[in-house]
Amino acid sequence: MNILLTGGTGLIGRALCQLWLADGHRLWVWSRTPQRVAALCGAEVQGVGSLQQLDAVALDAVVNLAGAPIADRPWTKSRKALLWDSRVRLTEQLVEWLGRREQKPALLISGSAVGWYGDGGEHRLTEADQPVSTDFASQLCNAWEERAMEATVLGMRVVLVRTGLVLARDGGFLLRLLPPFRLGLGGRIGDGRQWMPWIHIEDQIALIDFLLRQPAASGPYNACAPAPVRNVEFTRSLGRCLHRPTVLPVPAAVLKPLLGELAGLLLGGQHALPQRVEAEGFRFRFNDLDSALADLLTPP
Ligand SMILES: NC(=O)c1ccc[n+]([C@@H]2O[C@H](COP(=O)([O-])OP(=O)(O)OC[C@H]3O[C@@H](n4cnc5c(N)ncnc54)[C@H](OP(=O)(O)O)[C@@H]3O)[C@@H](O)[C@H]2O)c1
Repeated sequence: MNILLTGGTGLIGRALCQLWLADGHRLWVWSRTPQRVAALCGAEVQGVGSLQQLDAVALDAVVNLAGAPIADRPWTKSRKALLWDSRVRLTEQLVEWLGRREQKPALLISGSAVGWYGDGGEHRLTEADQPVSTDFASQLCNAWEERAMEATVLGMRVVLVRTGLVLARDGGFLLRLLPPFRLGLGGRIGDGRQWMPWIHIEDQIALIDFLLRQPAASGPYNACAPAPVRNVEFTRSLGRCLHRPTVLPVPAAVLKPLLGELAGLLLGGQHALPQRVEAEGFRFRFNDLDSALADLLTPP
């Protein structure tokens, strides 16, 4: 297949490129730094700085993963604008360009997050559910999905990947937790009861690849392992895996003044379940957190 990726240089995009190159697909990555794409994604992947460079290329699928990191810094007004523009505005530009093309790819797989549901508390969330609460992250995901869905008007099939916390060796959420946990300074966040819908990077990649190959897949899919855990269980599991104590909680009263609205992302969560993708035949390789962490953290 001929596949265009946005966000192809990111954690998920790079791993997808590796898999899809090995499978013989031809790949293009729309990037702010196209000259770095070959080094990051693979020598055969072509970086483009503008979509117009692809006007004459027949594409089968577009995978839209671009977005500035959501939890890197407090959500000031300007940070919120960047988070919005890098997902919602970028997707708008992408769909406008697709609309102008004569040859339309059949499929758009577009990013989203389990944050679409807002802080779900104790609700068990499948794709049949509506958002439980609305915070900035939920509004962002909603608008991001809506822009992507506009490609259906062009006759394209649209798949939305509502991703949980991706656990990987070389980036993302786990890498940031490791330094304090390795020093024995890890602990639950707030009361630790919030749900954490995690997914091993290998399953995340396999799931997107599965959706690429399902001719009837469309609409939202929760991308998280079938057994989400509460923050307190996640904390214990990571401590066990690293053989370190996890007795130093991070109180909500400390996080809120430090992080402002962003603290809600860490103090809330979603008991999200991958109902649709499992019903359509996808099988997770890592179903329980202990085995996922052991795989990622045990030296080869
Ligand atoms: N990783 C997770 O745990 C997780 C969880 C839920 C949802 N997601 C979503 O899934 C998508 C992919 O995740 P990821 O972890 O692979 O992301 P990532 O490593 O942070 O990479 C995202 C890519 O987005 C592009 N980007 C960054 N800032 C941008 C900006 N200001 N304007 C335009 N593009 C920008 C970058 O590509 P260039 O530098 O090449 O332009 C970057 O490689 C993201 O949108 C993320 O929100 C991820």
